[in-house]
Amino acid sequence: MYPNPADAPVRAPVTLPQLREKKRAGEKIVVVTAYDASFAAQADLAGIDAVLVGDSLGMVVQGKSSTLSVSMDAMAYHTGAVARGLRNALLIADMPFMSFASAERAYDAAGRLMGSGAAMVKLEGGGWVNEVIARLSERDVPVCAHLGLTPQSVHKLGGYKVQGREEAQAELLLQQAQEVAAAGAELLVLECVPAALAQRITATVSIPTIGIGAGPHCDGQVLVLHDLLGVTLGKRPRFTKDFLAGSGSVREAFANYAAAVRSGEFPAAEHSF
Ligand code: KIV
Repeated sequence: MYPNPADAPVRAPVTLPQLREKKRAGEKIVVVTAYDASFAAQADLAGIDAVLVGDSLGMVVQGKSSTLSVSMDAMAYHTGAVARGLRNALLIADMPFMSFASAERAYDAAGRLMGSGAAMVKLEGGGWVNEVIARLSERDVPVCAHLGLTPQSVHKLGGYKVQGREEAQAELLLQQAQEVAAAGAELLVLECVPAALAQRITATVSIPTIGIGAGPHCDGQVLVLHDLLGVTLGKRPRFTKDFLAGSGSVREAFANYAAAVRSGEFPAAEHSF
């Protein structure tokens, strides 16, 4: 995994208190998705702060048209693989569709993901989800919330569309962000929301926000691995960037992505709504 031990960076494992401190200090948090040990190791060596085993694996690894049928077995399998590739980065794993439909189901799902090596679980949605977040959190399961375009709700949303463009929808998202934080979420992914709304949410909640298609004002950014490496199936989403183009290796692409996020160069206006 690390052919040359001198390659392994000397830095402490990334913790949630460190991510909170980054928000306080105005330092950007860099996150990427990964689904196997080898890519996870390259991201880790490049100094990425956190790696997400997203249920996007259903689309980018399994070639499905949505994330809805990603199984718990698949999430646990890929979480275990990624965990074996990481030394420093914080490992977050997605709770698949319906695996957190009740607190009892969520305990089992979170137990499997954390047993496979995740340090935090991510679940999509607001409203009824607050109760599940609170119940997981009081059992010491760190939770990352996910609002805006929540791909597991694709059929209710009527497609993969930017959320929060209208005032009422924006106010609801702001309220939901405050509620997930109050329920105990420790990170918040904001997907495909207007940059100005993400900025308002980021300024309002005490927990770090991680944007994807949410403009430059979030506390951090996440990209799907395949978008970052320019191997997106179909049309490349506007909010992504191919960091392999112009880089000499996958590890350099991760390092260039991290540098661009930390300097504020990515995302630019052309990647935002
Ligand atoms: O599944 C995933 O990869 C995600 C990211 C897009 C945040 O949820």
